[in-house]
Amino acid sequence: MTQTKSQLESSERFKPKASRRDFLGIAAAWSAIAAFVMAMLGAFRLPMPSVFPESNSQSKLGKPNRFLEGSATYFPKQNLWLSRSQEGFHAISSVCTHLGCIVERDGEGEFSCPCHGSKFDRAGNVAGGPAPKGLVWVDLSISPEGWLVADTLKETKQGTYLKV
Ligand code: FES
Repeated sequence: MTQTKSQLESSERFKPKASRRDFLGIAAAWSAIAAFVMAMLGAFRLPMPSVFPESNSQSKLGKPNRFLEGSATYFPKQNLWLSRSQEGFHAISSVCTHLGCIVERDGEGEFSCPCHGSKFDRAGNVAGGPAPKGLVWVDLSISPEGWLVADTLKETKQGTYLKV
């Protein structure tokens, strides 16, 4: 027995479960819901800053007895070198005064900038290169609890040592 084309089209087997119009309507509704949810997530996140500004420029570096005389310790988060000598403690910023690259310290205690080749002596004075001025000496103090504290926003005069 053969079926005619109209019989085939009207049979349940060949009927689509959802019409193209229904499918597009459902897809549009879900797209709208997803867009709304993403927009709401963005709206709730908007008041929160992506970067939290440093609430305090002061950082505890450690107890003074942790650092031996003649030592130099790098603090990457604060971008500074803390040195202890007979004169006391001093901290030198590792931020190059030319364009802000991080300088490297060699075995002699001198600094060089990998970006444009500036050189600085042990005290941070310019010894060569395009840097317009020496490395910044960072203010050091002792907290009431006896911690060494560096204030990265406070510059101190070169040659200022903290005696402990
Ligand atoms: S950033 Fe250091 S020499 Fe240019």
